[in-house]
Amino acid sequence: MDFKLSEEHIMIRDAAREFAQTELLPGVVERDNKQEFPDTLVKKMGELGFMGVMVDPKYGGSGMDTISYVLIMEELSKIDASASVMVSVNNSLVCYGLETYGTEAQKEKYLTPLAAGEKLGAFCLSEPEAGSDATSQRTTAIDKGDHYVLNGTKNWITNGGRADIYLVIAQTDKDKGSHGINAFIVEKGMKGFDIGPKEDKLGIRGSDTHTLQFNDVKVPKENRIGANGSGFRFAMKTLSGGRIGIAAQALGIAQGAYELALKYSKERKAFGTEISNHQAIAFKLADMYTEIEAARLLVMKAATDKDAGANYDRSSAMAKLYASEVAMKHTVEAVQIHGGNGFVKEYHVERLMRDAKITQIYEGTSEIQKIVISRSILRD
Ligand code: CAA
Repeated sequence: MDFKLSEEHIMIRDAAREFAQTELLPGVVERDNKQEFPDTLVKKMGELGFMGVMVDPKYGGSGMDTISYVLIMEELSKIDASASVMVSVNNSLVCYGLETYGTEAQKEKYLTPLAAGEKLGAFCLSEPEAGSDATSQRTTAIDKGDHYVLNGTKNWITNGGRADIYLVIAQTDKDKGSHGINAFIVEKGMKGFDIGPKEDKLGIRGSDTHTLQFNDVKVPKENRIGANGSGFRFAMKTLSGGRIGIAAQALGIAQGAYELALKYSKERKAFGTEISNHQAIAFKLADMYTEIEAARLLVMKAATDKDAGANYDRSSAMAKLYASEVAMKHTVEAVQIHGGNGFVKEYHVERLMRDAKITQIYEGTSEIQKIVISRSILRD
């Protein structure tokens, strides 16, 4: 067991840190206020290789490991979780899904521009009545011989407006339950595919989240991913990796809030001394540091499992469950340490607190992670 990062990992982490500090930090408050994220920044993340971190270079990716991916995610999330969610969805849900389960033709046509950062992807599983209960898909994909016809609605889709390529999960044969579900590659602009208005959200406000409508959308058969009926398993396996990315995002949000709270506590004076000299504040910092480090170890364990080719369903669920709870708890504490200033946007911690909440919800709520973990340990 080795708790040290390699030289290469440190270089990757430092490159992501440099990008986050110099490119993401300026304007982050304004982007959050205006609910926007410029294409130029997405392009830059692509040029740095952040959009296809783990993808084989022959498909336009950076060919790095999952440890590198979580280091990048942590650094971006310390500053701007709206940026990191785009990176996470594109990498772990879209690129991973295509590289692992796609055909050679699908990889050439779709994975390559996605991994190179030339195009952006979205993952469409959630529906108005199928959030946590993901097997209850109402979107239908009817087999018409050489194509499928898609009808239905998808909700809360990250990158919903700005994506070019959408992986859409739909029910082909209701009688077969989860074994009647398929995953499809849908392109923006296909007839009958409409993008609804952008959601006005509590956090990750720079990330665009939309409802999508599919009205008799003709999807060629070659755009189905994997064997007929394998779509639910595809979604679950893909989400297991996604949860490592979101766990790393939660870790970054917590670490970012901790660093701001530490700095502030050494500058702000009350009762004749820096507030870090008051035990009430020092103990908060001790709890933050300890629990964030524990979250980091769980995130690294899940990433190591994935890199080793071991099953990571349980370790990714544990990492996401714990890191997101730590992010929520300690961003609240970071606001508390900042006192009145914590409630003001220019001090950044209120945004991190708002951003933390989504990590307990998307890619499986904390309650869903407990289902995954408990089923897994009871099977042992
Ligand atoms: N790997 C392989 N197969 C799996 C699997 C996994 N990890 N998990 C389940 N399956 C298989 C099961 O073995 C089962 O197959 P059999 O019938 O052959 O045994 C089948 O899938 C159905 O599984 P379950 O019976 O366990 O299904 P369930 O209805 O009890 O639901 C669940 C399981 C874990 C609760 C699942 O519904 C779930 O993960 N829900 C949460 C969904 C989610 O994470 N949504 C996030 C949306 S995406 C998002 O947020 C992206 C974004 O934009 C940021």
